[in-house]
Amino acid sequence: MAKILVTGGAGYIGSHTCHRLLEAGHDVQVLDDLSKGFAHNVPEGRLNVVNLHDAAAMDKLFSAHEFEAVIHFAAFIAVGESSREPERYFRNNTGGSLALLDAMKRHGVRRIVFSSTAAVYGNPEVVPIPENSAWKPVNPYGESKLMTETTLRWLSECSGLKYVALRYFNACGAEPRYGVGEEHDPETHLIPLILKAIRSGKPVTVFGQDYATPDGTCIRDYVHVSDLAEAHVKALDWLMAGGEGGVFNAGTGHGFSVLEVIRAAEAVTGQKVPYIMGERRIGDPAVLVADSAKLQKTLNWIPKYATLEEMVASAWAFESSHSHGD
Ligand SMILES: NC(=O)c1ccc[n+]([C@@H]2O[C@H](COP(=O)([O-])OP(=O)(O)OC[C@H]3O[C@@H](n4cnc5c(N)ncnc54)[C@H](O)[C@@H]3O)[C@@H](O)[C@H]2O)c1
Repeated sequence: MAKILVTGGAGYIGSHTCHRLLEAGHDVQVLDDLSKGFAHNVPEGRLNVVNLHDAAAMDKLFSAHEFEAVIHFAAFIAVGESSREPERYFRNNTGGSLALLDAMKRHGVRRIVFSSTAAVYGNPEVVPIPENSAWKPVNPYGESKLMTETTLRWLSECSGLKYVALRYFNACGAEPRYGVGEEHDPETHLIPLILKAIRSGKPVTVFGQDYATPDGTCIRDYVHVSDLAEAHVKALDWLMAGGEGGVFNAGTGHGFSVLEVIRAAEAVTGQKVPYIMGERRIGDPAVLVADSAKLQKTLNWIPKYATLEEMVASAWAFESSHSHGD
């Protein structure tokens, strides 16, 4: 059992991971400023409402608990918004990570698992994408994450920090036994948008139908949030056991087009998805599919959610049990 600080633990992936860490026997404290997350996502008695940039509050938290490692989810995540307000993204995502690393250094914490993203690849040259593909983000969000990865790499090289960066592909679904799910505001992710369209009757927009894919719509690699939570627990256990660390893709290796996701949602819910066709969005690659062999081999990580229908069904169960009034 290790004593872990989880930043961003009131958010979607962070809250699932907190629940999973507790199940695995770890002791967890959450740091979240609730700018995007929700107190109700955090197991009782574990929430500390603190911003990454508040050095005094961070020192108090680190002094009160002898953390052995940090799992760092806290960030802004909306790709489109990052192009409109790049400063906010670099300040919060890259600057916030630096502030966290400073606090870790002040308090002698030398292990971190970091939420990175497939957005570091931009438009990939090879699919499925291996970790050593070119890193060419096409938006400030992806760049803000790549800059954090770069910082981690140099701190590892120069001062022996141990880190794992997990580059998630498209996180989705929910874990019913935890009672948490995807509640981003504004929501920008496809599966919750499709499910909201079913509930509200207001059409969801499919961005682009002229990509070089079999049905013309973008293809993404959907990975269940419980499988991601498990990847974090494995990464943490590995670092605690003296593992070297490194950078890993986290996806299933299977790609689904937007229209395939719509069909899966119709099969799961038994209802028609209202949708309209729109223009391509700037910076949307045609296909993003992970080569996750490194994660599978190194950490023995095997995603349990194998089909798109299972993933969509778990998201639908959460969506149906939560009334958002929209
Ligand atoms: N959702 C995805 O598909 C996806 C894909 C790739 C990577 N990621 C990464 O995973 C992480 C978690 O994503 P998510 O979908 O759970 O997002 P989320 O918005 O649900 O959670 C992020 C949490 O961080 C908190 N936060 C943000 N800035 C903070 C700050 N300065 N101080 C304290 N708390 C702060 C927010 O309040 C929120 O609770 C992010 O780092 C994101 O970049 C997500």
